[in-house]
Amino acid sequence: MTTERTFSIIKPDATRRNLTGAVTKMLEAAGLRVVASKRIHMTQEQAEGFYAVHKERPFFGELVSFMISGPVVVQVLEGENAMARNREVMGATNPANAEPGTIRKELAESIEANTVHGSDSLENAATEIAYFFKPEEIVG
Ligand code: CMP
Repeated sequence: MTTERTFSIIKPDATRRNLTGAVTKMLEAAGLRVVASKRIHMTQEQAEGFYAVHKERPFFGELVSFMISGPVVVQVLEGENAMARNREVMGATNPANAEPGTIRKELAESIEANTVHGSDSLENAATEIAYFFKPEEIVG
């Protein structure tokens, strides 16, 4: 067991429905600690850069439009096996396939408006954290 950091976004469908606290409560209940958090409204350039890995996907344009449709909360989460633990509590990308009790099963609206993003590897977590946070903004 090692203490890790991972990156999370509470997406616009959740901020619109005032679910920031509900999502954070589920993250904390899963053993994750929020060690950095800020509410931002991403620019198109920021969202395109963040999701650059999906540039060739047919849903890229819609994904970017959705992510800039309202505020998001970007967070750094810390805990034992934080990356895998976060993905477990998030549930499957498509809420229709997510396990009961997961954030996406309980709260998400659709595969696009799926409430949360979480890093899928420790390498990506480091890149994604650095995309939004300066080291001094993370207080463990
Ligand atoms: P996320 O973890 O933020 O990473 C990429 C996002 O693309 C994903 O969550 C989904 O919300 C979004 N997305 C939209 N449409 C699709 C789709 N058809 N297949 C996979 N991901 C999709």
